[in-house]
Amino acid sequence: MSSGSGQRLVNVLLVGGGGREHALAEAMCKSARMGTLFVTHPGNPGLAELGTPVDVPVSGKELYRLAQFCDREDIGLVVIGPEDPLNEGYADELSRRADGTRRPVFGPGKAGAQLEADKAFAKQMMRAASIPTGDGRAFTDYERAVEYYGSRQEPMVVKAAGLAKGKGVIVPDTIEEGLSAIESMMKREVFGAAGKTVLVEERLQGTEVSVLALVDGSNILILPPCQDHKRLLDGDAGPNTGGMGAFCPAGSVDDAAMRLIEAEVFVPIVDALRREEIDFRGVIYAGLMLTAGGPKVLEFNVRFGDPECQPLLARLESDALELLLATAEGRLDEVDVRFSDQHAVCVVMASDGYPDSPRPDDTIKGIDAAESIPGVRVHHAGARVVAGEVRTAGGRVLGVTGLGPDRESARVLAYRGCEQIRFAGAQYRRDIAKSGAGASR
Ligand code: AMP
Ligand code: GLY
Repeated sequence: MSSGSGQRLVNVLLVGGGGREHALAEAMCKSARMGTLFVTHPGNPGLAELGTPVDVPVSGKELYRLAQFCDREDIGLVVIGPEDPLNEGYADELSRRADGTRRPVFGPGKAGAQLEADKAFAKQMMRAASIPTGDGRAFTDYERAVEYYGSRQEPMVVKAAGLAKGKGVIVPDTIEEGLSAIESMMKREVFGAAGKTVLVEERLQGTEVSVLALVDGSNILILPPCQDHKRLLDGDAGPNTGGMGAFCPAGSVDDAAMRLIEAEVFVPIVDALRREEIDFRGVIYAGLMLTAGGPKVLEFNVRFGDPECQPLLARLESDALELLLATAEGRLDEVDVRFSDQHAVCVVMASDGYPDSPRPDDTIKGIDAAESIPGVRVHHAGARVVAGEVRTAGGRVLGVTGLGPDRESARVLAYRGCEQIRFAGAQYRRDIAKSGAGASR
């Protein structure tokens, strides 16, 4: 089959079920080359509307089933959204066709995913490649971690080395608080295996920014910078979350800083991956602190940020499917990428009890009313349909994105959207993208 322009249609498998994946699905479906979109998580109402559910079990333990599905349905591109399936090796398995050829997959294999899944590995790579980052040491031994921590004059940041859904980082105000974080990770294992190794890191001061780049194995395409708001409450108070809102472009980085970030962070990390013979195709997301001494890496992720993906894609004018396919096929140098001059702001609406114990099954009303406002889009994350109504089914429930000529108008639009939406116990920050909000503490 071919599209109107004569190019072959591409069947796509999208792995993941959050707001990021809903936004990715929506962006890819605008492409004239989209064949059938298959989704692994049709429980997300947004994905159910845009995609066809896969008819095999989706599990890291039985990946051969999904691989067979890809062969049967002639999948020409697999897009993997979240970190867990990347870390479980979905990309490695799904990139192998039965006939021995390589299927394009957007998202790194297990080896590349270590950049996010193992903060000790990431730190070592950064050190070896002289990438600016805070001083840090990794510990697998509780007593040694405590001894080191206690010998420092100031409370240092404590990080579970493994994947902990954005919650494994503690930025303590006192040494006692830091010691108790080490104890809860290493002794009480509150993050399970993710906290067996703990990274103790110098606390950096400055403004945070998320810079994401597409990497196709060798070429790097830097995307416009975003700013995320990780804390639960206004004024950057409360616990860290997966992200309560984001905007794009971030005002805090100018072109010169972006060039510096490309030269000092992205070029060396991609070179380092190649030296390790890791063929990385997907997104490298650098969480950066803009310190008085220049930008420093707080963390690497190996996927689009959620919610950063929503405002980023809201501004993308070129064909998202082509872009992801070109990344997976190693031909980023051939594609044309355009972002609009507009600004986008995404506000996350979370359920009652998030992040500790999100309450499910609250009925959500007003999504259509929000989406009827020009410039407002709603993406489903932790929501599902039960008995014909949309209900909460996770921590971060919806992402409401406004797109406008400047940040303030985009912000106003996003909040007008939020005001239309009602569910019991809904929590959202009122200061997303407000100037001064979002700086780190
Ligand atoms: P990470 O998952 O490593 O990005 O950490 C989550 C959040 O913790 C970051 O977005 C920062 O707000 C904060 N954080 C992490 N590392 C540091 C650091 N070295 N100094 C200050 N804040 C940090
Ligand atoms: N919003 C932060 C993240 O996706 O890691």
